[in-house]
Parts: sequence; C-alpha cells; structure tokens
Amino acid sequence: MRYLITGGCGFIGCNLVRFLLANRPQAQIRILDKLTYAGSLANLGEAAGDARVEVIEGDICDPDAAQATRDCEVVMHLAAESHVDRSIFGAEQAVRTNFEGTFRMLEAAREAQVQRFLHMSTDEVYGAAEGVSFDENDPLMARNPYSATKAGADRLARAYWVTYDLPVLITRPANNYGPYQYPEKLVPLFVYKALRDEPLPVYGDGMQVRDWLHVEDHCRATLLVLEKGEPGEAYNIPAHNERPNMATIRLLLDELGKPESLISHVEDRPGHDVRYSMKGDRIMKLGWRPELEWEAGMRRAVRWFADNLDWLDSSYQRGQEFFEKWYQNR
Ligand code: NAD
Ligand code: DAU
Repeated sequence: MRYLITGGCGFIGCNLVRFLLANRPQAQIRILDKLTYAGSLANLGEAAGDARVEVIEGDICDPDAAQATRDCEVVMHLAAESHVDRSIFGAEQAVRTNFEGTFRMLEAAREAQVQRFLHMSTDEVYGAAEGVSFDENDPLMARNPYSATKAGADRLARAYWVTYDLPVLITRPANNYGPYQYPEKLVPLFVYKALRDEPLPVYGDGMQVRDWLHVEDHCRATLLVLEKGEPGEAYNIPAHNERPNMATIRLLLDELGKPESLISHVEDRPGHDVRYSMKGDRIMKLGWRPELEWEAGMRRAVRWFADNLDWLDSSYQRGQEFFEKWYQNR
C-alpha cells in the first residue's frame, strides 16, 4: 500500500508517519510538504532516512506537485496553514493553502483514482460550542478565517464524494497536543516562554475551553477511520478532556516548576471561540477511545519540549518575525 501524506513534516504529520511505520510496516509513505515555517525535515528524525519514506518538497496549490498522488492508493491530506492567529493577521495564505490546495489535492486524487482520500478537517468548523456539544450533522458555523477555510475545504471534500464518487473520509479532531507541535500553539509557546521566565500572554480571562487530544490517540483514530470508516462520512474525534486554558497553563507551570506570576492577561484574540466540544458516538462505534489521561499526557508533552530545547529554539526562530508583529502592544 502506498500512502501520500500531505503536510507530513508538520506536527500531526510527523507523528502520523511514525505511527504508520510502526503499525503498518509494509507501508510505503510519500510525503508532499512545502516545508513552510511550520514544517521541517528534522521533525521526521530517523523516519527521514527510512527506505519506506520518500519526501517531495512542493506546494499542494501547484497542480504539478499535487501529481504526487500518482501510484498511491491512499491520500491523507493534512497540509494546511493551521494557526488561527496567523489567519487573523492575514487570511490570504490560509485561503490559498486550505481551500485552493485542498481542491488541487482532490483533483489529483480523482485523476489517480485513489482508493481512499482522508481529509483532516477540525472541530473548529462548527464554531463556538456555547452550551452545546456538536455531532457530525450540526451546521458548520466557523467564525475565524482559519476555520472558515477549513469549513470550505471540508464541504468541498464531501462534494467530491457526492459528485465524483471519490471515496472521501473526513475527520474533525479536537485540539491536539504532543511532541513536535510548532511553538506558536498554546502549550509549546508557553513552555518556550516559561523556560525563559518571560510573561505568558493569556488571551482575555483565559477561561476559554479546549478539548485536549493527545496526538498518539489522534493517530490511532485517523488510521481507524481510514481503514474502517464509511466513505462520504465525517467523524468527530473528541478527547472528552475539556479544560479552561487557565487549567492547562497552571499545569504547565507546575510541571516546569515556574511561578504563576508569569501569567499575563493580554488583549483577547478577535472573535475568540469560547469553547469547542463534540460528541464522539460515531467514531466510538468503530471501536476507538482516547487512552491518554489528560494530566499525565500533558505533563509528558511539557517535559518533551523542555527536554528538546534545540528543537524548540530553532522552531521558534523560524516564526520570530510573526511573533514580534502579533504580540507587540498586545
Ligand atoms: P502544522 O502547521 O504543524 O503542519 C502543517 C504542515 O503542512 C507543515 O509541515 C507545512 O510545511 C505543510 N504545509 C503548509 N502549507 C503547505 C502547502 N501549501 N503545501 C504543502 N505543504 C504545506 O499543522 P498540524 O497541527 O500538524 O495540523 C495538521 C492538520 O490537522 C491541518 O489540516 C489542521 O487544520 C488539522 N488539525 C490540527 C489540529 C491541531 O490541534 N493541531 C486539530 C484539528 C485539526
Ligand atoms: O481545535 C482544533 C484547532 O486547535 C486546530 O484546528 C488548529 O489548527 C489548532 O491551531 C488549534 O487552534 P486553537 O486556536 O484552539 O489553538 P491555539 O494553540 O492557538 O490556542 C489554544 C487556546 O489558547 C485558545 O483558546 C487561544 C489561547 N491562547 C493561545 C495563544 C497562542 C492564548 O491565550 N495565548 C496565546 O498566546
């Protein structure tokens, strides 16, 4: 079986590559990745030298690069501009990569007549879950540029099933955490700052709720949907680990032995979704349950960043220009 993984050098992608190599040893994996600030060959570690892994550096928006689907039975489409704050700062790149890029990949997959196309969407497509928990049939009410481009891509992927019989599967995972997450996201960014005794910029009151899914649990769910899911369907992947940001931040500080005086409440993210929450009945019927307990999993993730300081520093530096503009005067 030959798998094409777009975005395989990013956070979830590099974890998924490792997971596939370990659990489907016959797999031949081709990665298509633009190696933006968020992606790096270093994320692949030993997997980069594995004879079963081929890396193509290219942009999914480029129709020629999208032809990386040739000879592949399976496409797992992860490549995206994944950061909400960057999409708020300027939406163009998110529109291009997340929507147009998905269109290019769907077209190329259709041409290659792949057997499965897994589109990785997000829980953000539903919008803020104020007093509710969404199931897969709820309307997509995305509210920020990132989630709006993901909602468009999610529906475009579904349209390729309805219209062209492309066997599309859609996953909508909750907030992932774990090794190799780029340090623009809450957990690795705050570890980076706390280790330098710098203030942690908490948006607003920090009481926004996220559902924290360990990336290993997520990789298991992704492979299950790929292999056992019903084409044309969407699958929520919740963790049932909903926590206010302040709880995550306090745990992180505790693990690092740093004081809560580092917490600094700053101007809120515009249009900040106060809560994400999903029901998981459909994927649970396939036999999946999240296994990592929140506190232990989060402490382990925090420790991983603290133990991999070279990786954390060099990753952070690639995003320095954006951080200066975004956090200045916040
Ligand atoms: P990431 O930002 O860590 O990695 C994205 C990868 O895509 C990088 O390797 C980057 O180089 C590559 N990429 C970006 N633009 C590209 C382009 N035009 N062509 C080719 N490659 C390109 O993202 P992630 O957190 O690993 O997310 C992976 C997927 O999962 C995304 O589709 C995201 O929307 C979705 N998702 C993420 C989370 C989360 O919590 N991280 C949760 C739900 C869904
Ligand atoms: O829910 C799934 C989504 O989770 C994915 O689709 C996105 O790709 C991923 O980036 C993530 O989006 P969030 O916006 O939830 O993640 P982020 O790490 O940016 O923020 C998590 C919470 O922490 C959110 O409520 C905003 C808050 N936050 C974040 C940053 C970076 C702060 O308070 N301060 C910060 O500096």
